[in-house]
Amino acid sequence: MRRPIVVANWKMYTNLSDALVLATSVRDGTENISGVEMIICPPVIWLTDIAEIIQRKISHLALGAQNIHYLSEGEYTGEISAPMVKDTAKYVIVGHSERRKNFAETNSIVARKVATAIDTGLSPIVCVGEEKKDQNLAGEIVKDLKDSLAHIAAKDYKKLVIAYEPVWAVGAKEPATPEYASKVINQLREVVSAETPIIYGGTVDSSNVYEFVRRPEIDGVLVGRTSLRAKEFIKICRIIEEYKKII
Ligand code: PGA
Repeated sequence: MRRPIVVANWKMYTNLSDALVLATSVRDGTENISGVEMIICPPVIWLTDIAEIIQRKISHLALGAQNIHYLSEGEYTGEISAPMVKDTAKYVIVGHSERRKNFAETNSIVARKVATAIDTGLSPIVCVGEEKKDQNLAGEIVKDLKDSLAHIAAKDYKKLVIAYEPVWAVGAKEPATPEYASKVINQLREVVSAETPIIYGGTVDSSNVYEFVRRPEIDGVLVGRTSLRAKEFIKICRIIEEYKKII
């Protein structure tokens, strides 16, 4: 069985004290949750401080970066490489729609980042999703995923997490319907191996998460805004624990 996953994407939010308070609350509120991989992706600058907090007591939480450069080092002022985050993070989000849109990240750049992550020992959380609501676009999303994985071998598929995030549902008022998400996810499943978790992202909160995770084909969720509210995020983790035990 694939492991259930929840990813908290804090995006470009929190100052140091907010980040420490949030990480401490999430750590304490999730320590009794089992069978769910809970991954916190704070701004990269807080990774080391949060690693201290979550490991000092227990290590039921994993950390992820929100981005890496595709090269391991070089004259790239302001960039962060995979080896730089490797000591604290286990995961890295790659190809998030906000990076594709605001930083012109193409599938070919994403593919290089995925390969670098794997080579460095990080597990990439690879995001794909269509810009406009239209299920006929599933073929294009499948192609985006194939292109994003172009430089890695099939044996490495088990190291990936795929996040299906319809762009129109990210930071929106309403998520995609679970039926809509499932249809696309079933097609993405054909691209990767049976062991690769595929999760949904886009306006997930504690009131709608069960609709997604009660479906066996949806292995978890990627949470943006709501992951900045400790109580709500902990609730989401508990709901995933509960529903994935039933399946
Ligand atoms: P959201 O963000 O939950 O705020 O829609 C999701 C994401 O980061 O992709």
